[in-house]
Amino acid sequence: MAKSKFEYVRNFETDDTCLRNCYIVVRLDGRNFHRFSEQHNFTKPNDNRALGLMSRSARSVMEDMEDVVIAYGQSDEFSFVFKRNSTLFRRRASKLMTHVTSQFSSSYVFYWREFFGEQPLLYPPSFDGRVVLYPTNHNLRDYLSWRQADCHFNNLYNTVFWTLVQTGGLSTAQAEDRLKGTVAADKNEILFSEFNINYNNESALHKKGTTLIWTKQNETVTKCIKVSNEEEEKEVSVIRSRRRVQAHYCDIIGEQFWDEHPDILEDDAH
Ligand code: GTP
Ligand code: MG
Repeated sequence: MAKSKFEYVRNFETDDTCLRNCYIVVRLDGRNFHRFSEQHNFTKPNDNRALGLMSRSARSVMEDMEDVVIAYGQSDEFSFVFKRNSTLFRRRASKLMTHVTSQFSSSYVFYWREFFGEQPLLYPPSFDGRVVLYPTNHNLRDYLSWRQADCHFNNLYNTVFWTLVQTGGLSTAQAEDRLKGTVAADKNEILFSEFNINYNNESALHKKGTTLIWTKQNETVTKCIKVSNEEEEKEVSVIRSRRRVQAHYCDIIGEQFWDEHPDILEDDAH
């Protein structure tokens, strides 16, 4: 087909190919979820329906884009890490980011009822997305540690804050005042001495966030096969290995998780 005189406008498109050998991280974050959570009566400080829906939507992204080796989520955010040699969408940042974000957003709406039942979705939620490249395993692990440390920090604050309000009878302004200048040890102490709550015993999902990785599972399936020289089919059991997304609610800052799952990261030497 002959080129039109308009064709030159294509050259205005800029190249956004992600640097080779780097892990590509796409992080998305709910837009104005402070309002969204209020409007949809999310329980405070953590709503397990909302967290479950975030996790379900993230699984849908991983199943759609199998090059994601690990995903980590907390509150209204989720990070997706693509393997460092991924060639998906020719490593174009905008393609990767928009596909992740739109697949996640549509899943959030699609699976809403599974988690919120009859409670209606009042307006379409949206998520922003960004792409960050990490060249070394050390950098990538520090990135994930940063997000999990943020989860811990916010959850400890929110747990004490809402305990002071809901159980202690303080107003939100009073609770805010009470927590000004306190460090983690002070917050643990308030929970323990005033409310008999041991923060260590709080839910791992809330303290650690959600980590999604692939695991291999053997599945037994029944297959019908034709037996030669015979009319009828025979049923046989075969074992198939399937990759499935599995959720973990554990520490990903220390060594143990990475020692137990050595396949997630590739050696830096490659
Ligand atoms: P932008 O991301 O800048 O658009 O603002 P945002 O309002 O989404 O704030 P941010 O992403 O910093 O924080 C997420 C907010 O979502 C929290 O501050 C809470 O208000 C709300 N949120 C997330 N998870 C929960 C939950 O489980 N329960 C409740 N009650 N609120 C939640
Ligand atoms: Mg947000």
